[in-house]
Amino acid sequence: MKTSSICVLGGTGFVGSHLCAELVKRGHHVKILTRRRERHRDLLVLPKAQVIESDIHDEAQLREHFQDCDAVVNLVGILNEKGHNGKGFYIAHVELTRKVITMCSSCKVTRLLHMSALNANPNAKSFYLRTKGEAENYAHTFAGNKIAVTSFRPSVIFGLEDNFLNRFASILKFSPVFFPLACANTKFAPAYVEDVVNAMADALDDPNTFGQRVNLCGPKQYTLKQLVQYIASTCGYKRTVIGLPNWLAKLQAYILEYMPGKPFSIDNYYSLQIDSVCTETNKCPTSLEAIAPSYLLRQSRYASHKLFRNKYHH
Ligand SMILES: NC(=O)c1ccc[n+]([C@@H]2O[C@H](COP(=O)([O-])OP(=O)(O)OC[C@H]3O[C@@H](n4cnc5c(N)ncnc54)[C@H](OP(=O)(O)O)[C@@H]3O)[C@@H](O)[C@H]2O)c1
Repeated sequence: MKTSSICVLGGTGFVGSHLCAELVKRGHHVKILTRRRERHRDLLVLPKAQVIESDIHDEAQLREHFQDCDAVVNLVGILNEKGHNGKGFYIAHVELTRKVITMCSSCKVTRLLHMSALNANPNAKSFYLRTKGEAENYAHTFAGNKIAVTSFRPSVIFGLEDNFLNRFASILKFSPVFFPLACANTKFAPAYVEDVVNAMADALDDPNTFGQRVNLCGPKQYTLKQLVQYIASTCGYKRTVIGLPNWLAKLQAYILEYMPGKPFSIDNYYSLQIDSVCTETNKCPTSLEAIAPSYLLRQSRYASHKLFRNKYHH
């Protein structure tokens, strides 16, 4: 089967916008469903891509959009919910996956790429990882033999406009010299977004990936503390990162959970109790050091001066 028309849920996000650009580059027609079309005008310039405002939680609307598609990609995911009881995670991950599978069956869509996360597991303590695990299992179990499912389980993903390195860079910019960090010893193997989307686009027509759960890790492991130190030094911020003891990290999570915008939550704390690294060989070859400085350096004026000096004084 050669896929040509693909419906993408979550295609406006960080990974989604990179994936849609890659799919278009490979000649596919891409239908991107979003809750707010006008927020994503940048995607309108992609040739062969349609950005359509839609309520993806409404089965009738999903049916309408899946009707003429060969494949569906579900990238929808949230790291935080509005409430505190896991219901928001359940709706965004499990309920939505159930509707996607039902509508794929009803519209005879035969291929589904499902975005999960490393450590997703129905027995996990964090709602994020638990509902991600339930959703992934649901997709594989209920796809039957009519829908070929591949799920992707990345560690943290970096790249232009990522939500991880950029977020820490903005916090560090305004932080005092001593930067207190929760879960500082948790390990990550950051994967480059272009490697992630290439793995997904390659999988589309590759029968070897049907029914597979694909872990995606970058070439190197870092503790969270090492990553935050790397971000600070790349941006030119002189910060001393201090790992908080576990009890204080948990207390910080309880407090920040109730701050506007939930900068950190108890659920984030639980998901950070497990290392996010792969045991098998990495599938994402690009290193953090090769890419991150290009966009982190834009984060601070000092840093751009530093870049200027390095360029003209060496
Ligand atoms: N980024 C990472 O480091 C990382 C690591 C592991 C796994 N993942 C997984 O990869 C996927 C993509 O991540 P990302 O970083 O690209 O996320 P993102 O930038 O936050 O984008 C998420 C997308 O999902 C849609 N969405 C979010 N909440 C929704 C809701 N309640 N109902 C309907 N649509 C909703 C949004 O679309 P609209 O606002 O346009 O409707 C948005 O385009 C997620 O499933 C995430 O769990 C990401």
